[in-house]
Amino acid sequence: MKKIFLFLSVVSVGFSATEAQELRLTSDNINKVIKAMTLEEKVAIIVGKGSGAFDGRGRSYDYVAGSAGATNPIDRLGIPPIVYADGPSGLRIDNKQCTRFPNGLLNAASWNSDMLERMGEAYGNEAKARGVDVVLGPGMNIQRNPLCGRNFEYFSEDPLLSGLTAAALVRGIQKAGVGACPKHFAANNQELNRLSNDSRVSKRALREIYLRNFEYMVRNSEPWFIMSSYNFLNGVTTSENRDLLTTILREEWGYNGAIVSDWGGGYSGSKMVRAGNDNIQHGSKGRYNDIIDRVKDGTLSIDDVDACVRRMLTVATKAIRYEGGTFSDNPPLDANAAVVREVAPEGFVLLKNDGGILPLKQGSALALLGTTSYDFIHGGTGSGFIHNPYRSVCMPEGLTDAGFTLDKGLHDFYTDYMKGERKRCEDINKDVPWCCERERAMEAVPRDLIAKAAKADKAAVITFGRVFGEGMDRDYYHSYLLTDGEMALLRAVAEAFHREGKPLVVVLNVGGIVDVASWRDLADAILICWQPGEEGGHSVGDVLVGSQCPSGRLPVSMPMRYEDEPSFANFPRLKADKYENYSFYRYVGATPQYLVPNVDYTNYEEGIYVGYRHYLTKDVKVAYPFGYGLSYTTFDYKDLKVKDKGDKLEVSLTVTNSGKRPGKEVVQIYCHAPEGGLDKPVRELKGYAKTQLLKPGKQEKLTVTIDKTTLASYDEQASAWVAPKGTYTIMAARDANTPVLTASYSLSKAVKVKTHDVMGVEPLYIK
Ligand code: BGC
Repeated sequence: MKKIFLFLSVVSVGFSATEAQELRLTSDNINKVIKAMTLEEKVAIIVGKGSGAFDGRGRSYDYVAGSAGATNPIDRLGIPPIVYADGPSGLRIDNKQCTRFPNGLLNAASWNSDMLERMGEAYGNEAKARGVDVVLGPGMNIQRNPLCGRNFEYFSEDPLLSGLTAAALVRGIQKAGVGACPKHFAANNQELNRLSNDSRVSKRALREIYLRNFEYMVRNSEPWFIMSSYNFLNGVTTSENRDLLTTILREEWGYNGAIVSDWGGGYSGSKMVRAGNDNIQHGSKGRYNDIIDRVKDGTLSIDDVDACVRRMLTVATKAIRYEGGTFSDNPPLDANAAVVREVAPEGFVLLKNDGGILPLKQGSALALLGTTSYDFIHGGTGSGFIHNPYRSVCMPEGLTDAGFTLDKGLHDFYTDYMKGERKRCEDINKDVPWCCERERAMEAVPRDLIAKAAKADKAAVITFGRVFGEGMDRDYYHSYLLTDGEMALLRAVAEAFHREGKPLVVVLNVGGIVDVASWRDLADAILICWQPGEEGGHSVGDVLVGSQCPSGRLPVSMPMRYEDEPSFANFPRLKADKYENYSFYRYVGATPQYLVPNVDYTNYEEGIYVGYRHYLTKDVKVAYPFGYGLSYTTFDYKDLKVKDKGDKLEVSLTVTNSGKRPGKEVVQIYCHAPEGGLDKPVRELKGYAKTQLLKPGKQEKLTVTIDKTTLASYDEQASAWVAPKGTYTIMAARDANTPVLTASYSLSKAVKVKTHDVMGVEPLYIK
């Protein structure tokens, strides 16, 4: 009976059974294979295997346990499954040991594309060895507000830094022969009600900020996939928006890869296909039937279905299981751990180092304080979590290996104290949803031990930690500010150590920025190590002892007060229970509602003035500017030159290590546009470069190429990118607030690049 059905459906598309049976997918016969497919088979390629919609077997785990999903294989045509696994900083799969790479913020803070490409390749090789075809990352949404729960996965407030960081990782991952899937396209900037919040964004802010990061990524790499996001964007869910996925992404930017929905995203299968969302994960019977029914009633063209299938089959020919391919299941975990250790200090940001107290002398006795020093945070949560990390080097191990001796009294105290706290946290955490923030140990203030340590030891090191993630944005009081317990510890240690004339170092082991302005005077040095991956303790030890020089620069601004944030009034301020998943809070399904601001809908009223674009232009003082970071050495800049190279500008300068230790410098190229025309930020990042490790006295010439179109701003009236002719000031800067050298460039002919007039927003909800 089954065979007869197959025969009939094959005949109905014009092939004999024998021909179809012999037909096997290759990269040269994709159209022929499509012709041979039944409608049901085509839709099976579009709707994920995990839904069971095609064959009733909803087992995406068949291939790799704990993977996020897979596509349906069609054996008779030699079409293999494509297996997806999270996530942005390593594989989130079950039962297998996996490398925990540094988080997204650290990657962006490195400003080092070559190194990120190498790390991406290590990650890609590991995915391939584990039988994963596509890694669901990097996450690259703009850090619009510091309280977004997934900022640890994301890169920056700046679209260029976000886009180039993502592109480097994509290129690296794909060198290994597996696919990357940058996510979540687009304007997915809050976790609260992430499935049905409508991001209301002006056309200009979209083009210049929230799409621009993806545009830079697409123009500098060729990902196999891009993931559409859950949220609505100007009234339409992104996975159903043809203007976004086809007109802009494919037609304007030339993207040739496939698009997969976020898991459970979108509502109507047929609208998703029509928009160009090729794969619906994990899919559902409803979406599967909707596509079939709409083709049958003529409201969805089979050409749109075939276009999705064609893109998916193009990927399928590169899949590991194509033609029975196998995998080693034996990734080089030790080599990857070495990569993690090499990369991490490149993204560590040294905010403060009064009197050059860092690096600390090897062999020094240290008072190691703070519960996070004894419960280090290597990575984030949710789909960015690694279930079975290969290594987890803690701070006591890392600092001891770096040659420090740790105060025994404090070490014993914390070892004992943490036993009780771990138990308390475990009891709470067993009921916390998989994606949310976990309860962590409360701070203790062991005053007697602190007083003894201040006399006996050379310095104090306190680590404060923050972990948060998917499904919940951060709470201002307990996550952004230091807690009362943390402040009490900080004050007690600062007082005791400073009384003895000894320094206090604060290490911030965080997935996003915290307030520093209110307490930084208490610390002599502040180092952000973000969530640096599995070698974390070693990496911090390497930097504190000075065998590695921190060379990260802030990928986000650090404001004086959260209230100064340009999106302050237009970001959720829910005082939520931190253990709940708020992804579905006020979830309404296919039609957004407009009752509660920042929950049902969010107005991006700050427009293009995100991060430093706001602080600089509106002259608002920050604690530390975008791009900021100290080094253990100093650098001089000279010979800034700007050459016209047709469509591009070539900016060059020479950087000399003028200090006493080896180090790497990040040079940031900003541009100030001529007056007149559109309102513009006072300066914007247009390029950057990082030196090699320079020994004292050594110099390096850096060259940064800038496409002239990146000088342009988006003119909504003209639906075009425009850069007026005139004199542009090009700055080589240490950070957004500190230009060192400037040069002029005269653009003799205006740039105008026309776009489609799409993605508008109703004026009702936005200024
Ligand atoms: C997340 C994605 C993730 C997917 C698969 C979703 O909830 O938003 O980032 O890749 O799940 O696990």
